[in-house]
Amino acid sequence: MDATIRELRWGDLDDLIDIYLHLYEERGATGSIGITLYHEPPTRASEIAWFADLFRRNLEGTALTRVADVDGHAVGSCTVSPSGSGPNSEQSHVGVLGILIHQAHRGHGIGRALMTDVLERCRGTYELLRLSVFSENAGAIRLYEQLGFQRCGHIPRAIRRGSTYFDADEMVLTL
Ligand SMILES: CC(C)(COP(=O)(O)OP(=O)(O)OC[C@H]1O[C@@H](n2cnc3c(N)ncnc32)[C@H](O)[C@@H]1OP(=O)(O)O)[C@@H](O)C(=O)NCCC(=O)NCCS
Repeated sequence: MDATIRELRWGDLDDLIDIYLHLYEERGATGSIGITLYHEPPTRASEIAWFADLFRRNLEGTALTRVADVDGHAVGSCTVSPSGSGPNSEQSHVGVLGILIHQAHRGHGIGRALMTDVLERCRGTYELLRLSVFSENAGAIRLYEQLGFQRCGHIPRAIRRGSTYFDADEMVLTL
């Protein structure tokens, strides 16, 4: 694993947008990527607005994003945000986790390193972490189970991609 795990920086904007938009090429090429997308790729303007909001929430401390850096470029990120509508919510003790590694850097231990770092940082902030995963995403589910997540629900036909439906699993980790 040749990546460094670090905080989110404003300069990660282009890398993180590129990693996300690359998923639409993957979806076109294989159709079977294990992450939920929009029907149409979002515009660059809306991606910049997404990144600006993520960066603001990290500065405020209402979201935690950690970045995997290889040679000065972000190649993946993991974010935990409070469930519900912010710190005043009765769900704010529950964090929602999302992770994405660029296709070219998967399978080298970066996802495990990112999640291990994030889980440690979430202790004391959240009591529970939850995530949703495509039921067919066996690799991701194996990683989450190795890190202590347990499957707690199954939603048939939760995602519709064109005329194809995918089931989703809900997973939870008690910190
Ligand atoms: C899922 C994802 C985050 C895992 O990150 P990664 O850097 O590829 O995973 P790692 O190299 O750290 O692998 C850790 C473990 O995950 C499992 N794993 C990950 N990808 C796998 C795959 N394609 N096939 C089988 N096992 C896999 C293995 O158990 C591996 O353990 P091992 O090292 O003992 O073999 C990454 O592949 C990814 O971003 N995928 C596309 C988007 C996605 O599916 N996101 C998850 C949405 S819930």
